[in-house]
Amino acid sequence: MQIIQTIQALETERHQWHGSVGFVPTMGFLHEGHLSLFQKARSAHTILVASIFVNPTQFGPHEDLARYPRNLARDLQLLEAVGVDVVFTPSASEMYPEAFMTFVEPGGVLANQGEGAARPGHFRGVATVVLKLFSLIQPHSAYFGQKDAQQVAVIQRMVKDLNLPVTIQVGSTIRENDGLAMSSRNSYLTPPQRHAATILYQALQAGRKLFESDPTTDTRLVLQAMQTVIAQEPLARLEYIELRHAETFLSLERLQAPALLLLAVSIGATRLIDNFIYRTHGSWDTGQVLYSSSETNI
Ligand code: PAJ
Repeated sequence: MQIIQTIQALETERHQWHGSVGFVPTMGFLHEGHLSLFQKARSAHTILVASIFVNPTQFGPHEDLARYPRNLARDLQLLEAVGVDVVFTPSASEMYPEAFMTFVEPGGVLANQGEGAARPGHFRGVATVVLKLFSLIQPHSAYFGQKDAQQVAVIQRMVKDLNLPVTIQVGSTIRENDGLAMSSRNSYLTPPQRHAATILYQALQAGRKLFESDPTTDTRLVLQAMQTVIAQEPLARLEYIELRHAETFLSLERLQAPALLLLAVSIGATRLIDNFIYRTHGSWDTGQVLYSSSETNI
């Protein structure tokens, strides 16, 4: 496995690559959610590339950039084990030299609602770094997690709008055995907060069940029932709970595929997001629960 830190070295190296290139961008502190994307990508490509870069432009001024968890040595071991060929780990000044001034600006509801409203500038930073990484790595396919559903929609929109020659593949949300979606940010939670964090999954399940018993239910009633579930957990503070079209991100008054049932909840200083997706053929993708935490807690 090759570890590349500079753009110049990456460009030299890229000329040696033959066959199809798969790419998984990450901010590191890897868990089974990330690894599932590498596993999905591995058999489909000759060259499998990972990036580890905690992208400063997608963090707001009062967010957790400085304390974002990092463990490069452990990440490299995990990437080696999953069969990654190349890891790109640039520094912030390599990606954003002093004169840097060009950004990709996602627009419309897709960028202004949900996470876009809660984190102004977040998707501008995500789209900019992802476009830069696509230009540098030139992958045939790039892999993203359903966990960050709005990020997937923003990237898919950017690929269409800017005619980028890359296929976006999406992997299901990987969950701990109590249903909590895996996230590098879960490491911020104290044991009681970690326990409380299962409330996101419980609320999503409650919403899904209501829609399953009557798909024509008024969305407001479902969202209210989900709010009641969240309100039962004193450590949880609901930020938003919504049913949106999975691609346009417009709010839906009635369930209609493809839809996202999404929520953001703060537990102490930690913001957690999660979602279930209602697919076109009328089934819910609720993600994948990993049953044995002792085997998977790497
Ligand atoms: P990061 O949070 O490290 O996530 C990297 C990829 O892993 C994203 O596509 C994310 O959706 C996916 N992922 C995270 N948790 C997951 C889970 N529990 N199940 C399945 N997939 C999961 O997302 C980012 O980094 C950044 O915004 C990035 C795209 C790298 C741009 O900086």
